[in-house]
Amino acid sequence: MRYQIAAATMAFTAIAFIAVQAPTAQTSDKKSAKTLRAIQEFNSIENETDRSKALFEEMAKVITHPRCINCHPRDDSPRQGMDMAMHNPPVIRYDESGMGAPGMRCTTCHGEQNVELVGVGGIQSMPGHSPWHLAPKSMGWIGLSVGEICEQLKDPARNGDRTLAEIHEHNAEDGLVGWGWKPGKGREPAPGSQARFGNLTQAWIDTGAHCPE
Ligand code: HEC
Ligand code: HEC
Repeated sequence: MRYQIAAATMAFTAIAFIAVQAPTAQTSDKKSAKTLRAIQEFNSIENETDRSKALFEEMAKVITHPRCINCHPRDDSPRQGMDMAMHNPPVIRYDESGMGAPGMRCTTCHGEQNVELVGVGGIQSMPGHSPWHLAPKSMGWIGLSVGEICEQLKDPARNGDRTLAEIHEHNAEDGLVGWGWKPGKGREPAPGSQARFGNLTQAWIDTGAHCPE
């Protein structure tokens, strides 16, 4: 009984804390960063080029989210967590496959799906999805501006020889992309949903696939 009271007190304290935090600008920015606007919300931008750029800016909320960009470095190490820290334990890309060094392949630890963990150094789950490996260097985004990422995505020489239609298909259907919204216990998902991200990609293409500066 006493424990229940203590728990209730803690819950009230937490609610009070959130209530105090709520009105600040930082919190509302954070909230908008966690959601993804629907394509209809861009209809008010009359100029098609401007609309296209704005649609890409919205897509970039997903692309630059740690759930995605942690696997898209320009160097040889994946990143971890919301702070995009170097992967611990240290692992390397090793070769073009991005699957890691022999004996220390990504799949040594990362399975075909997320696995919940109990009492392992504060990590609540082990991320997993098949095939778990690093995006090729040419698709590396860490340190690039949103405009530079946009140009990379459109460039067949760097995007895995994909047409824009294939980029849409990848964003809307790919399983590793989809993992971004099902990242396992203890990890913040990418903003919005994969369906909304796919629709934004299509609308960006339909408006000429323009890149923000
Ligand atoms: C020795 C085990 C081990 C190996 C090998 C390994 N990882 Fe990890 N990886 C982990 C653990 C544990 C975590 C979870 C860390 C956490 O959540 O704080 C992790 C997390 C990650 C994340 C972060 C997910 C996120 O969004 O925060 C990425 C990306 C990742 N690994 C990619 C790779 C890639 C790519 C390889 C192969 C080149 C690889 N890992 C090899 C143990 C490993
Ligand atoms: C576990 C690692 C991993 C995660 C997590 C990941 N990707 Fe990737 N991504 C890859 C790999 C590997 C490829 C290359 C696949 C290929 O070319 O067939 C790739 C390719 C891509 C491409 C192809 C075109 C290009 O030029 O980059 C896009 C777009 C993409 N990823 C978007 C995303 C988005 C958006 C997310 C998050 C919602 C995400 N990825 C999360 C590993 C990852």
